[in-house]
Order: sequence, then structure tokens, then C-alpha cells
Amino acid sequence: MRKTHLTVALAAGLLPWIAASAVTIGDGPIVETHLDQARIDSGAVTFDQLFDQGQLLFQAKFNLFDGQSRPGTTGGGAARVPGSAPAFIRTSAPDANSCSGCHNQPFSGGGGDIVANVFVLAQTLDPVTESVNAQFSNDRNTLGMQGTAGIEMLAREMTAELQAIREQALSAARGTGRSTRLALNTKTVNFGFVTAHADGTVDTREIKGINADLILRPFHQKGAVISLREFTNNAMNHHHGMQSTERFGVARTGTADFDQDGVADELTVGDITATTIYQAGLNTPGQVLPDDVGALRAVIRGERKFETVGCASCHVPSLKLNTTQFTEPNPYNPDGNLKPNQVAQVFSFDMTRQGQLPRFEAAAGGGINVRAYTDLKRHNLCDAQVRHYCNEQVVQGGIPTEMFLTRRLWDAGNSAPYGHRGDLTTLTEAIMAHGGEAATSRVAFEQLGAQGQAEIIEFLKSLQMLEPGTPALVVDKRGKPADKAAAAKRVGEAVKG
Ligand code: HEC
Ligand code: HEC
Repeated sequence: MRKTHLTVALAAGLLPWIAASAVTIGDGPIVETHLDQARIDSGAVTFDQLFDQGQLLFQAKFNLFDGQSRPGTTGGGAARVPGSAPAFIRTSAPDANSCSGCHNQPFSGGGGDIVANVFVLAQTLDPVTESVNAQFSNDRNTLGMQGTAGIEMLAREMTAELQAIREQALSAARGTGRSTRLALNTKTVNFGFVTAHADGTVDTREIKGINADLILRPFHQKGAVISLREFTNNAMNHHHGMQSTERFGVARTGTADFDQDGVADELTVGDITATTIYQAGLNTPGQVLPDDVGALRAVIRGERKFETVGCASCHVPSLKLNTTQFTEPNPYNPDGNLKPNQVAQVFSFDMTRQGQLPRFEAAAGGGINVRAYTDLKRHNLCDAQVRHYCNEQVVQGGIPTEMFLTRRLWDAGNSAPYGHRGDLTTLTEAIMAHGGEAATSRVAFEQLGAQGQAEIIEFLKSLQMLEPGTPALVVDKRGKPADKAAAAKRVGEAVKG
């Protein structure tokens, strides 16, 4: 069914200023060139070239020539009866023209309005469901990818450390002939305990806030996806019917046109690398200090109160990453996603030196302090009285429906609406909906009274995704670098050490 478009080669002699080039007129694909992973592996493609191609793919409004649509398959990648669903449908998708159709606030790669919500898992219900009833799917708000390179690298390092603790327990149990129970601590976060037995079996029942395999999945508000790449392969198929060869190509499905839309090999391995590097290369959220003396004082005080009322026990202000490098692909990628042993050499870039400004800053002594305000762990915020975050019914990835990852708050100031469904319009509502494991800290927040609460809100409002190109992570309202310690001193406060 592929429609050929009209290519007119202009004769160099007739139109000398266009020289020997060929111009395509009429409808055609939006993505005219695809990237060969072998060229990336050979080192021939620069970071900037990858970022630019990734930006093009992230913003492209895919059309029929690109391979938009998936008449033969579901958004989960299962075969279905051709003709069983319309080209676009808001519930089970294809539901958008481009990634940035949803991820665009306040900039490309960012989050989205509630109108850009996704009915997560409806895509697996083809033939299609036309209902947004919670029994069919989980209604989720769009997140921003700013800073996610650091998040993915933290998850990899934490996974390695947790799995090493499990190995340590196993070898101790074998060595002593007795069961060994070890605390699963990594980067100041505790994920419960693992117990290894002398016969080589492992008891995972005390593991908390992470899957039993101890692979930290930092993506989806549920904590269900391992890497930006895995998410990209999923999203390209789910939202756009754009199938990558690494997931749906001949080697895995036996056909180059698995979705039966008439276009073969829609996205190369290199295209998925580029789309991943674009997201990883986006800038890092920072802090915008208000001009007003009262508001500035509130920001400084609110930051301290955020810790004293216990918010920081889950929304950990900073986790220390040992590396400054982002490497692609991720070694923990599941099948159907490129893995390091499939490339001649992994692609890597320094998160403190390449990518959109502002970038992560190198920490004293090496690595990066990733100030995302999360422990990357799942928690249950529901109890008998407070149940707002327990609205979902469809189990995703085997994870109990009431468990969600501690939301990163480094973009809280300009990522409204709030909550995983995006159905809360203010930060205060989002905080007041904290029950269960966060009940004590919510009560402490309530007890602060109006002034103390407003200070915490003012602090959260200062944490923002910054305009690409902003020269520093802490800036004033005009985007000019600001000295926080000096600003605090001006209003008679000291910044926390
Ligand atoms: C219809 C709107 C929509 C479109 C189109 C869309 N996304 Fe998303 N995206 C979302 C929503 C909603 C979430 C949050 C999902 C969740 O928490 O379950 C999300 C989450 C993500 C995440 C994980 C972020 C995190 O921190 O957990 C990544 C990565 C991502 N999208 C990449 C993409 C890419 C790449 C594309 C294009 C191929 C794309 N998205 C297209 C709405 C969309
Ligand atoms: C037990 C861990 C825990 C504690 C303690 C905690 N939170 Fe949260 N917080 C979470 C989780 C998990 C979410 C995600 C909820 C959801 O959407 O499902 C969240 C979400 C939020 C959000 C919504 C952000 C958004 O963009 O949607 C805000 C704001 C917030 N927390 C602020 C606070 C403040 C302020 C405190 C202290 C009073 C606090 N939290 C204490 C775990 C915690």
C-alpha cells in the first residue's frame, strides 16, 4: 500500500543554482534519512548529530509514508485482525502525531496538559476499547524527560549495587552453610532485605519498592520500564505505529512489515539510538529564585521545612551518581531492545559537558549529585482515609495498583497538573493526597500552619525545567545566573549546607 511520491530531479543545466540536487515534491515521508547504527558504532556520528536526528524524530509528525499506523498489530506488539481498529483512536492509540505532541510543556521533551494523558494499557486491548473506564486502562499524565539521563544512570548503578548485595548474601550462605539476610541499601535508599539460603535459593519476600529481580525501573510513574530506549521502542509503536527493527524486524518477527501498513523497517536501530540520545541530552531542571524579598525568604525557609517535616525521606533531595558518562545502550535492557553486546562499542557522552544547557554539574570528588528529589523507590500513599492515589484498577508489570515511584520534584514549579493522573491543579492538593507511608509527613505538613505550608509550596514552585540554553542551574526570573547563598544572606537566611 506504500504510496510513492513524486521525485523530480532537476537538470543542473537548467537550474544551475540548485546544482545536481534532487528535490522531492508532493507528499512524502517526514523522516527522509535514517541513521545506520553501524556508523554510530564506528564513531563516525557526533553527539550533536545524534541529538539533532533524535530531535527530528521526537518532533516529527509521522505520516503514512514514514509508516505511521499499525493495522496488523496492537500497541503491545501482538498480532490482530487487520481492519479491526481505526487509524487513530484516543484510547488505545495511535493517539498522537508526534512524541512532542504530548511532551511539549514548557518545552519539547517536557510534560503535558491533562488533555495529553495516556490511557496506559488500553493499547493492548485491540480490537479496540472505546471506553476510558478505569477497568480498561490507567489514565496517566505526561512527564518531562529533562534530566532523565542522570535518572537512568542512577538506576543502573543502584541495580548493580543491589544485585551485588544479593550475590554477597549467596556466597556467604554457601560459605557458612547458613541462611544470610542482608539489608538492600544503595545510595542512602533502603529496599528492604534479601535472604539467601545455603542451597543457593533466594527469599525475596522482604524486598520493598522494587521488583524481585532488583533491576531498578525508573520510568513510567509506576516504575515499570528500565531505559529511555525501552520506553522509546514501546512509545513509537504504541502512540504512532512506528515500528523499530530492533523490536519488530525480520530477526524477531520473521517479517519486515510486522504491522502490515505497507512500510518495511520503519525505524532503524540508529534512529532509536538518536531518539534516546535526544531525550538523554535534554537539559537538567534547576531553580528559579524570585526577586521579591518575601518570596525569596519563603523559598529558603521552605527548603529547610521540606526536610524537617519528612518529605525528604522519600523525595531525597540528591542522589550521588558515581559516573558523569551516559552510555547507550543500557546493559539491563530486556529482549527486543538493543544491548551492549550487540554493538561494536557503546556510545557515550559526558553529561556535564555535552547536551542542552544547563547541564549537570560535576560533583567535587567526581560523579554528579542528581538533585531530583526522589529515592527512585515505589511507595503506597493510601490508607483508610486518604485514597486519591489508589484510583487504578489495571495491574501494570505485575506491580500492585497502589504502588507508585516517588515523583521527581525537580520540575514541580512548571509541571502542573499534578499526581499520576494529572487531576490535581495545585501542589497543595497533591501533598494533601499523601496518606499511607507518607501520612506522618502529611500530618506534619498540616501542622505547619498556613505560613509554613506556603513556604514549602514556594520552595517547590522554584524548582523548574529551564529554557534550553539557560547558562546556570540556579537563576533569577530573567534566566541570569544567581548566587543562592548570597541571595539567602540578603534576606537574613542561610542556605542549607
Ligand atoms: C499521547 C501522549 C504521549 C505521546 C504521543 C508520547 N508520550 Fe511519552 N509519556 C506520556 C505519558 C502520559 C507518560 C507517563 C506514563 C506513565 O507514567 O505511565 C509518558 C512517559 C514517557 C517516558 C517516561 C518518563 C518517565 O520519567 O517515566 C518516556 C521516556 C517517554 N514518554 C518517551 C516518549 C517518546 C520517545 C515518545 C514518542 C515515540 C512518546 N513518549 C510519546 C505521553 C505521551
Ligand atoms: C512515603 C514517601 C513519600 C513521602 C514521605 C512524601 N512523598 Fe510526595 N510523593 C510520593 C509519591 C510516591 C508520589 C507520587 C504520587 C502519585 O502521583 O502516584 C509523590 C508525589 C508528590 C507530589 C506530586 C508531584 C507531581 O508533579 O505530580 C508532590 C508535590 C509531593 N509529592 C510533595 C511532597 C511533600 C511536600 C511531602 C512532605 C510533606 C511529601 N511529598 C512526602 C512519595 C512521598
